Amino acid sequence: MFIGAMVMAVLFVVSYFTFSVGDSWDTIGGLGASTVTLGVTLGLTLLLIGTAIIHLARKLMADAEMVEMRHPAASPQEDRDATVAALNAGLDESGIGRRPLVRNTMFGAIGVGLGLPSVVLLRDLAPGDQLDISKLAKTIWAPGMRLVRDVVGTPILASEIEVGDLINGAPEAMFPTEENGYPELHGAQEQIDKAKGAIIIVRMDPDDITPLKGREKWTVDGIICYSKICTHVGCPISLYERTTHHVLCPCHQSTFDLADHAKVIFGPAARPLPQLPIAVDEEGYLVAQSDFTEPIGASYWEREKQ
Ligand code: FES
Repeated sequence: MFIGAMVMAVLFVVSYFTFSVGDSWDTIGGLGASTVTLGVTLGLTLLLIGTAIIHLARKLMADAEMVEMRHPAASPQEDRDATVAALNAGLDESGIGRRPLVRNTMFGAIGVGLGLPSVVLLRDLAPGDQLDISKLAKTIWAPGMRLVRDVVGTPILASEIEVGDLINGAPEAMFPTEENGYPELHGAQEQIDKAKGAIIIVRMDPDDITPLKGREKWTVDGIICYSKICTHVGCPISLYERTTHHVLCPCHQSTFDLADHAKVIFGPAARPLPQLPIAVDEEGYLVAQSDFTEPIGASYWEREKQ
């Protein structure tokens, strides 16, 4: 079994390098070759090690009987009596013992209330191609849409941002007026667009910025814009250190370097914050050049198929 465990571990590594995540998505029952082979080989490795150790302990280890004296760990009898009396008194006061209908429906409600939603939630484990995941890759941002201040919705003049400032922003479409002509948003759609469109805008010395290849024209004179949603599990990032240009996510301390395409320098996030390409319009206000060019927020394997 130990030999088998080693073989499985080697197969795990072979599968890791053979099947890339996101590829061969429908190779094995729509679950993805990578997922299935990694799960099976690692699972068998652990199972074989565990089973072998049990077998070793039962069949091969010495079976001498040992005696160790110890003192009773129980509380004194009077404490135990007092605890039982307090519990019984609470039970009597609740009246549950005398009211079988209440008791039974309570247990039923807990069972159904917790059980049924879990069953329905299993639907979300369906293979990605049975759900419309293309929605995850898009936000409400569009070419020419102004960047506005969060909460108040006022557009932002590039000239009024100082070096070192950080502004929490939102898409202009979240604040529709007759003048800007964006349609009113309601309900879940409004919440989704608001959450996915959240941005931070910072200004730094243009010489401090190391743009990624192809992103040289995504900034305006040191003003740079990123998604505010952490790429770990989607908390809003907020803690900015202006001297280092680092921004920290308060949930699990992922830290991103905004001067260097928001790459991760610490923490569990696995990819940089998506950057929003920006420009200025003829009145000097900041506008988006396009939507984000990659999905914002928590990462998911299928995004590489988009
Ligand atoms: S959500 Fe940001 S570090 Fe976990």
